[in-house]
Amino acid sequence: MKEILAKMNLPKVLEDGFVKSDWDKRRRELVDILANEEFGIMPSAPDKIDVEVKLDNKEGLGGGAVHKEVNISFDTEKGKFTFPITYFAPNDGKKHPVFVYIAFTPARAFKPLPLEEMVEKGFGLAFLDYQDIALDKDDENENGIAKMYARRNDGTDWGKIGMWAFAASRVADFLEKEESCDMEKLAVIGHSRLGKTALWAGANDERFKFVISNDSGCSGAAISRDKEGESIERITTVFPYWFCENYKKYAGKEDDCPFDQHFLTSAIAPRYLYVASASQDSWACPRNELLGAMAAGEIYEALGMTGLVFEDAQPKADHSYNEGSVAYHVRTGNHFLARQDWLKYMDFIASK
Ligand code: GCU
Repeated sequence: MKEILAKMNLPKVLEDGFVKSDWDKRRRELVDILANEEFGIMPSAPDKIDVEVKLDNKEGLGGGAVHKEVNISFDTEKGKFTFPITYFAPNDGKKHPVFVYIAFTPARAFKPLPLEEMVEKGFGLAFLDYQDIALDKDDENENGIAKMYARRNDGTDWGKIGMWAFAASRVADFLEKEESCDMEKLAVIGHSRLGKTALWAGANDERFKFVISNDSGCSGAAISRDKEGESIERITTVFPYWFCENYKKYAGKEDDCPFDQHFLTSAIAPRYLYVASASQDSWACPRNELLGAMAAGEIYEALGMTGLVFEDAQPKADHSYNEGSVAYHVRTGNHFLARQDWLKYMDFIASK
C-alpha cells in the first residue's frame, strides 16, 4: 500500500524544509485551500450561543442517564438561527468523552444507535439532525441556516457540508459548558456525506480532539486520484450544493488538482483521526479511504508522533488498526454506521 501511495504523487502537504513549528501555520493553509476550493468559506463563529433547555431528565434510559433536549440559538447576519439537539450522558456526576454526532434524520440513523451501551460504557452523545440545519437538496439556499448569511457569488460560498459542520461546532459551544462533558475527549462523527462533514468540522474546529469518518468516501477521507466508484465529476453533478462552486473545476481533472483529500485528513493532526470503511462499499472506495488515512499518518510521523500502525498489506477485515494517533478499520458488510463501528470508536477513545 505504501508503494501505491508513493506512486500517486499527491500534492505535498509539507513543503521542503518543513520544521515542526511550522505545522500550525501550514495546517491553517490546508484548511484555507479546502475552504476556497472544495467546501466553501464558513462564516465566523458567533460570539455566543443561547441555550434553551426543554427537557432535563436525570433519570433517562431507565435511570442511568442524563437526557436533555436543548435548543441552541445564535445571531447570524440575518437574525437568530435556532436548532434542536439531543444529549445523553452517564448520570454519575463525572466528566465523560462525548460524541458530537452529525446524524441523518432519526428514521435513518437513530434506530441503530447503540445508545444504552454507549452510556453504560461511559460515553456521552450529543446529536443533531442535519436537516434541522440545512435541507439536503438544492433549495437555492432559501431554507435553514443557508438563508441567514449573504452570498458572495465568487465561487467560494459555503455548501451544505460546511453548514452542517458549522452546526457541529455550535454543539461544541454547548458542550463547553456541560459539566458531564470532558472537552479533552470531545469527538465529532458522521457517516457517509456526514462523515465528510465530520472531517470538515474537525479540520475547522480544534476543540474536536477525535475526528471520526465512517464510510465518508469521495470528497471525504478517500483520495480522489485513481479512485473507484464516485468521482469529483459525479459528486459535483448529483450533489453540487454540498460544495462551493469552485470544486466543479476539478471534475475529471483529479490528477491536476492542487490538493487531494489527504489535505483534509492531515488537517486533523496532531489530534486523533479515525477513518473507517465497509468492505462492500466500493462507491466510497475502501482502498482510497485507507490511503487517505495512511497519507495523514505520514504527517503525524513528521510531527514526531505515531501515525497509522499498519503492516502494509491488505488490511485485515474487522481489525482496528488503532495503536497510533490515526486509526483505520474495514468492517465486513455494506455502507452503514454499525454497532461494530461504534464499539471500535469507543475502544479507540478509551485507549487514549
Ligand atoms: C451518495 C453519495 C455519497 C454519499 C452517500 C451518503 O451515495 O454519492 O458521496 O457519501 O450518498 O451520504 O449516503
